[in-house]
Amino acid sequence: MPVDLELEAVLRPPQLPMSPYPPKVIVLANGKKMVIRQAVREDVPAILKSVHPCLFIERDYYDIVSARLYGELLAWYRYRVKSEYCLLGQVDGYLVGVVNGRLENEKVGMSYHTLAIDRGLRIGSHLFAAKMEYHMDYLGQEEVLIVAESPIGFRRWMIEYPLEMTTIPHELGGGDSYRLTRAIYLKAKPRLVVGDRPVPQNLLDEAEAEIKFADDDTIRERIAGLKGR
Ligand SMILES: CC(C)(COP(=O)(O)OP(=O)(O)OC[C@H]1O[C@@H](n2cnc3c(N)ncnc32)[C@H](O)[C@@H]1OP(=O)(O)O)[C@@H](O)C(=O)NCCC(=O)NCCS
Repeated sequence: MPVDLELEAVLRPPQLPMSPYPPKVIVLANGKKMVIRQAVREDVPAILKSVHPCLFIERDYYDIVSARLYGELLAWYRYRVKSEYCLLGQVDGYLVGVVNGRLENEKVGMSYHTLAIDRGLRIGSHLFAAKMEYHMDYLGQEEVLIVAESPIGFRRWMIEYPLEMTTIPHELGGGDSYRLTRAIYLKAKPRLVVGDRPVPQNLLDEAEAEIKFADDDTIRERIAGLKGR
């Protein structure tokens, strides 16, 4: 169907300029190297292949988080959301985790979701830290608004950082937002934000060549903790 460009100009929200997130590499507890890099819009269909099997996993709120993430990534792909970004965690080219968020304005960031597709390696924790690093160190924001949908998420973000409670509504519509301020970030950074730059060229080339996805059963087993990478 031909796109009505005049109507599209109204339907597509304006985007704030965003500096790129420089890729980094983290050695995980199992010795594997995870590359964290920024996705481009064209990556979305490949990312959705790994998010899709998680839609049907009730354990640890994988279903709701994946469903929302799926919709948010599609909204970005189809130009229906303001200033969204997505960071990927890849091991041997395979997608092992995803984080996304967006800019509410130049100073305030809105955290969306964190999904660890492999478990027990703090992949989600490292990716969430990378997203806070992006907002603070590369986008120069003053604060990020965050809500948790799962007890593990609450433990990882609200308690581990720790984040500040507010009465500000969050656009995901759950409990009121918690806030990462610059002061909280700088205090937590030495403990939680890790990784090396630049990423060796061979690792970056492998990650960028293809976003590989495991079959649905393997993903389900990994999330249940039955199978490691
Ligand atoms: C929240 C999340 C991103 C954290 O990822 P992570 O930092 O890589 O941590 P894991 O989920 O692997 O592990 C969390 C804890 O459960 C334990 N665990 C690991 N694998 C497990 C498994 N298969 N079953 C049960 N527990 C497991 C870990 O040992 C860890 O314990 P610890 O907190 O004492 O270290 C991840 O659990 C996730 O994607 N959950 C579903 C979506 C979600 O809730 N997102 C956040 C919304 S606020």
